[in-house]
Amino acid sequence: MARKKIALIGAGNIGGTLAHLIGLKELGDVVLFDVFPGVAAGKALDIMQSGPVDGFDSAMSGAGDYSAIAGADVCIVTAGFPRMPGMSRDDLLTKNAEVIAKVGEGIKTYAPDAFVICITNPLDVMVWVLQQKSGLPPEKVVGMAGVLDSSRFRLFLAQEFGVSVEDVTAFVLGGHGDTMVPLTRYSTVAGIPIPDLIKMGWTTQEKIDAIVTRTANGGGEIVKLLEKGSAFYAPAASAIAMAESYLLDKKRVLPSAVLLNGEYGQSGFYVGVPVVIGAKGVERIVEVQFTAEEKAAFEKSCDAVKKLIADFKKLGV
Ligand code: APR
Repeated sequence: MARKKIALIGAGNIGGTLAHLIGLKELGDVVLFDVFPGVAAGKALDIMQSGPVDGFDSAMSGAGDYSAIAGADVCIVTAGFPRMPGMSRDDLLTKNAEVIAKVGEGIKTYAPDAFVICITNPLDVMVWVLQQKSGLPPEKVVGMAGVLDSSRFRLFLAQEFGVSVEDVTAFVLGGHGDTMVPLTRYSTVAGIPIPDLIKMGWTTQEKIDAIVTRTANGGGEIVKLLEKGSAFYAPAASAIAMAESYLLDKKRVLPSAVLLNGEYGQSGFYVGVPVVIGAKGVERIVEVQFTAEEKAAFEKSCDAVKKLIADFKKLGV
């Protein structure tokens, strides 16, 4: 069986890390596409040259023409601009929406059967633009945010409890960032929910609240430390988990930004909810019963995403 083809649209920090992980995990061959094709080709060659050391055979190439992504099985999109000093959120929205619109057209023409994962921010709006412009079925276009948010949450919880990250599960939904909604009663250490761990004296509500706040501001904490650029290792690892679940039909339950169509009483926009990812893409949206408080937090998060989409529509891009 031929190796899978994975197109990485954007060969910046996340794009390069994605390519490296794909090689190490032997998930397939890689085409790195960028408006700077030299950067894409340079990274592709450099990573391929680590193959003999690490024992992988993935072919990697760089490109500046969309025809290079033809027939891709998976496309992971990181193309875009980071927010620069002096740029308003609307400026970023406009600039990245223009980029994502072009990416959507490229995918529509050359990789209409791909499973597409969007990472470019502001995520919940960009993935919606990507689905609209590519015309791909919604179950084949998802946004990566929840896996990253829940991974950050799991790390901080594991550190608080002094246990392995492997034994901590986290349940996070809603928009990416500030308005993220962690459901602590569905977040556990080896199956024991956080509210029970509080009762057992393992931690306090105040400490959990502080961890939730730190998680919601997780991206900002890294931007501040790096001074230049934003997080890339954990975002890349998170998108790879989603791609792997699709390529290997693992049917993992992963929080992802998907187009809602009545689930959770919401419709017509992308927001993070738990979904099953398998060979058909998004195979199922997991709908849990909310408490009144959780429902209010989720609706607030949805309102923030809807407002961003409304702002975007006003821009007329
Ligand atoms: N087509 C293809 N690539 C593009 C285009 C375009 N129209 N416009 C910009 N790019 C490329 C840039 O040349 C750059 O190599 O996108 C890449 C973005 O890489 P970085 O600036 O290093 O950003 P990165 O850290 O990879 O993050 C990418 O993901 O998490 C989000 O907020 C983050 O939106 C950002 C995105």
